[in-house]
Amino acid sequence: MTTYADRYAASLMNTFGPPKLTLVRGEGAHVWDADGREYVDLLGGIAVNALGHAHPALVAAVTEQLQTLGHVSNFFTSEPQIVLAERLLALLDGGPGKVFFTNSGTEANEAAFKLTRRTGRTHVVVAEHSFHGRTMGALALTSKAAYREPFEPLPGHVTWVPYGDPQALADAVTDETAAVLLEPIQGEAGVNVAPDGYLAAARRTADEHGALLWFDEVQSGMGRTGRWFAHHAHDVTPDVVTLAKGLGGGFPIGACIGLGTAGDLLEPGNHGTTFGGNPVACAAALAVVATIEADGLLEHAAVLGAKLRDGLAADARVAEVRGEGLLVGLSLTEPKAAEVAAEALAAGFVVNNATPDRIRLAPPLVLTDDDAASFLAAWPTILDGAFA
Ligand SMILES: Cc1ncc(COP(=O)(O)O)c(C=O)c1O
Repeated sequence: MTTYADRYAASLMNTFGPPKLTLVRGEGAHVWDADGREYVDLLGGIAVNALGHAHPALVAAVTEQLQTLGHVSNFFTSEPQIVLAERLLALLDGGPGKVFFTNSGTEANEAAFKLTRRTGRTHVVVAEHSFHGRTMGALALTSKAAYREPFEPLPGHVTWVPYGDPQALADAVTDETAAVLLEPIQGEAGVNVAPDGYLAAARRTADEHGALLWFDEVQSGMGRTGRWFAHHAHDVTPDVVTLAKGLGGGFPIGACIGLGTAGDLLEPGNHGTTFGGNPVACAAALAVVATIEADGLLEHAAVLGAKLRDGLAADARVAEVRGEGLLVGLSLTEPKAAEVAAEALAAGFVVNNATPDRIRLAPPLVLTDDDAASFLAAWPTILDGAFA
């Protein structure tokens, strides 16, 4: 009998390597594979399934919107698009601004990159170990050379600086710099949290040179850290914020948000998208925002995340635990992250080996105390297997 793995290999481009499982169903923070095996999902589609799987509020919002009005072209607008833009601007607390909706994080960054070009400058300063996406523009800003090099030439004039070092940033930014781009927490790198004062220093440096300050909150935003946006821990107002992942709770949607005058840089004809801002995706995002608020998921993420970090750190094979809320990263004492992820999966838990020695967790914000406790109970045995 041909397996799903064989059929996948025969029919899908090999950009991701072989899939670990074929999943057929999900509920809350649990998923089931094609053999009927259940897993606790501690990755949430990589920080996407904010409300877990098959959340009734999300299902209802999408269903209702699709039954009412599924898509309009950008010659028209729809109420969900306008309401969502207003909600996001209000959540950002940044005063007036403007939103451009996309379908993914890379597209949100692509839009923001084009927005920065409208300043008349081209230089962008970005952090080492950053990840901003895979389109040619977003890729040009992504730090990992192995991702970029096969596709060069890419848009240039990018300088990478060590993350968390305000002096390196100050040295790199000039009067030619269009934007400073930072993740308030670097997700793909295995969860690096901006040190205290770093984002504020970035704001000062950008201001000194008339550059835009752009935060990529594609992974860290929308409640994941126990705050609506990770940069809210730092009392800094950026000019540009990009979002995706958790915004739609699993329905594809991203956003490029320009605050203040940055919201007016893109003009008619400068950018566009067929699907971006479609009513169904916006209705999904509105349901995510409403549910996070109604169910107190910001506080839940903060409290449960702290418990998870404490529990994970208790084992001597864990060198360091980082993160905020339910964006959690840990470094192992040995480069055994792939083994840990494999042992965890065999034990019924989905986790991610972000780097050879780093594990990342980005579970649904609806992860229950019991789900977290079951993982912490299994953790020493998972490490035993991986370090054997
Ligand atoms: C910080 C950050 N920016 C951008 C992206 C790209 O988003 P997408 O995969 O939705 O295109 C990611 C994806 O992991 C991300 O973590």
